[in-house]
Amino acid sequence: PKDVGIVAMEVYFPSQYVDQKELESFDGVSAGKYTIGLGQDKMGFCSDVEDINSLCLTVVQRLMEKYEISYIDIGRLEVGTETILDKSKSVKTVLMQLFEDSGNTSIEGIDTTNACYGGTSALFNAVNWVESSYWDGRYALVVAGDIAVYATGNARCTGGAGAVAMLVGANASLIMDRGCRATHMQHVYDFYKPNLDSEYPVVDGKLSIQCYLHALDKCYNIFSKKLQSAGIKDGTSLLDCADAFIFHSPFCKLVQKSVARIMLNDYLSSSSTDTSSRYNGLETFKDVKLEESYFNKELETACMTASKDIYLQKTKLSLLLANQVGNMYTPSVYGGLISFLISCPVEELSGCRCVLFSYGSGLASSMYSLRVTDDLSPKSSIHQLIRNLSDVRTRLNHRKKLSPPEFDQLMKLRETTHHKAPYKPIGSIDDLYPGTWYLIHIDDKHRRKYERK
Ligand code: ACO
Repeated sequence: PKDVGIVAMEVYFPSQYVDQKELESFDGVSAGKYTIGLGQDKMGFCSDVEDINSLCLTVVQRLMEKYEISYIDIGRLEVGTETILDKSKSVKTVLMQLFEDSGNTSIEGIDTTNACYGGTSALFNAVNWVESSYWDGRYALVVAGDIAVYATGNARCTGGAGAVAMLVGANASLIMDRGCRATHMQHVYDFYKPNLDSEYPVVDGKLSIQCYLHALDKCYNIFSKKLQSAGIKDGTSLLDCADAFIFHSPFCKLVQKSVARIMLNDYLSSSSTDTSSRYNGLETFKDVKLEESYFNKELETACMTASKDIYLQKTKLSLLLANQVGNMYTPSVYGGLISFLISCPVEELSGCRCVLFSYGSGLASSMYSLRVTDDLSPKSSIHQLIRNLSDVRTRLNHRKKLSPPEFDQLMKLRETTHHKAPYKPIGSIDDLYPGTWYLIHIDDKHRRKYERK
């Protein structure tokens, strides 16, 4: 098949949020810590009427309806998530109820889990399937969804929630660059969820940032070589090879630091005769060792200053959802892609190359790239994709703001009722967007029942 990649995309995020400025004051931290220090403005969250199944049901049905795709046309469906409600039954099988009326049960794929990386693994599986001898011409559907919640304390402000669905097939709007995938995986305990009774992770914040940046360095190295082999990169600078750099975003400031980190890697791999003015201010760091530099403030400041214009041109637009909803975990980097696509005039997107970096603690990480189709005829799939995402800003702006004490109370409710059976959710459904699936009941055998608003 030709031009395999993402044909269609849809995103769902909660219809309520808490304001990060108000949260700073409620948490008693200094004003600006969450908003300026971490770069977060709002955080989406769910009450007890939503869970990972309902989020994924909602985003899949929205995508199928908006694009008027028949459930018969899906041949593979898989879900990337780290929000585990059941140690055996997959979210994928829950989603099969949407396919019942169509009679289509011939659908490969199940769930994939490793922190924020599961969506990327699911996407790679889908692309591999379409490129394989097992492909039967139908679409693959990839769903990434999570509810990111932390115990009270300094990590709580980096939560979020949401789901992204992506249709994968040939003649795509967003075409994967063949042969250009770089991966770094390693055994570390930076963020993990050993307590199966709790939704909260155990997290070593500082270590997780170090691991993220280390994984970025590793992927940079492999990816640069692959781009070179593919004839996409000829000079030394990776930042010159693409029009957009999109990252998994635990919080927006880390993404800005990641652009700076790529510039540092570009600088260190440039020849000593390269006196390009873009590296002004970095001259004293030519001998720096990457492994010893993660928390070198002086270096970080110099790289952030040198890379600021590139960050503004090639990355900032991708942070809309990350800034307004927070870390959605597996959908985060795909929310970044959507934010970028809806923020550019469609004519400027033609042929645009995007580099993506996906990171999941534990750890699993990949860097890869895709290219926006240059078929910009009015009927082309990219027009439809952008049109179908044009409600994202309106949806963001029409959410309901809850106060930090209300947010705190709903977190407590989730905490005390997590895994309770039988259970009837008490949260309100009044403010859910129309078309949202929600949990109505868990019976004494832990079987969950949903309805659609
Ligand atoms: N005004 C402006 N900036 C401020 C202020 C203020 N009043 N107060 C603090 N800051 C800055 C700090 O200087 C720091 O910025 P810098 O690192 O650029 O210097 C930033 O705000 C954060 O402050 P810290 O004291 O470092 O924050 P803390 O250690 O309390 O927590 C952390 C931050 C570690 C990210 C925490 O929220 C966490 O553990 N989050 C979850 C883990 C995570 O997201 N890891 C990332 C990768 S793994 C993943 O995706 C889950």
